[in-house]
Amino acid sequence: MQERMKTFDMKHVPQNIPDTILQKMVRVAYHGFNFVTGYHHADPPTSAIGYRLIILESVAGVPGMLGGMFRHFRSLRQLERDHGFIFTLIEEAENERMHLIVCMSFFEAGPVTRFIVQAGQLALTPFLAGLYVVRPQLLHRFVGYLEETAVHTYTNIVEMTSTPGTQLHTAWKDTPAPQAAIDYWQLPADAMWVDCLKRMLADESHHRDVNHAMASMSEAQLFGEDNPFIHEHKADYEAGVRRHTEALLKKTLGDLDLHTIRSKDVLASKEAGVSKDGAWSG
Ligand SMILES: [Fe+2]
Ligand SMILES: [Fe+2]
Repeated sequence: MQERMKTFDMKHVPQNIPDTILQKMVRVAYHGFNFVTGYHHADPPTSAIGYRLIILESVAGVPGMLGGMFRHFRSLRQLERDHGFIFTLIEEAENERMHLIVCMSFFEAGPVTRFIVQAGQLALTPFLAGLYVVRPQLLHRFVGYLEETAVHTYTNIVEMTSTPGTQLHTAWKDTPAPQAAIDYWQLPADAMWVDCLKRMLADESHHRDVNHAMASMSEAQLFGEDNPFIHEHKADYEAGVRRHTEALLKKTLGDLDLHTIRSKDVLASKEAGVSKDGAWSG
């Protein structure tokens, strides 16, 4: 279907006992969550998706910020460079928070959902921080496995929304993208809700790859070498500057056109306004 959908079944194979434990934990939580929320892959109803996405995205925003914070403090404490990792991690947290904000334009969070979100943050933050303190790679591996399930879920939601005859297709086939999503992903003005879902899927598969890559790095690579993803931020930044410059140029040219005075009458004649040497006299 989509280019990025090809990666939906890419899974990291556990390399050691901690990997296996983390993978099992995520799988158990995933299937338990599916059971409780009534989510099934064959034709899920929209009602099973709203609070699922809100709860998942609110949790997903935690580890990136924790990792970024820990690295920031480490850099200050050890008087050492960070080599560009902090930015990737904080950007991940920001990206997940934007997923949440975009989902909030569609789904109403009732008191039960809000309670689960708050309890989830309270319980999971110390756990995730604990993983990082024991070994930073453990947190990244955990996030990698968590993102595998997110990719699985979003792939299914996108497929169902694009398949006529399903409940999601019936509900969302004509639903436009919310403005927050259009602004955030620079989508065309006529983008649809399914386009946002595709962007979220692409983001989740990127988080999965980044976190598994960081989890597979040695201590020396993680803290002494350059972040291998830093070129992406540079490219994003340059693309942003280019967009901004183009918009500015376009506006300036438009303004120039707007302020051009066109008149049939001569504004100044040689006799009246200009002195002999050609300079303006009045
Ligand atoms: Fe997300
Ligand atoms: Fe994610």
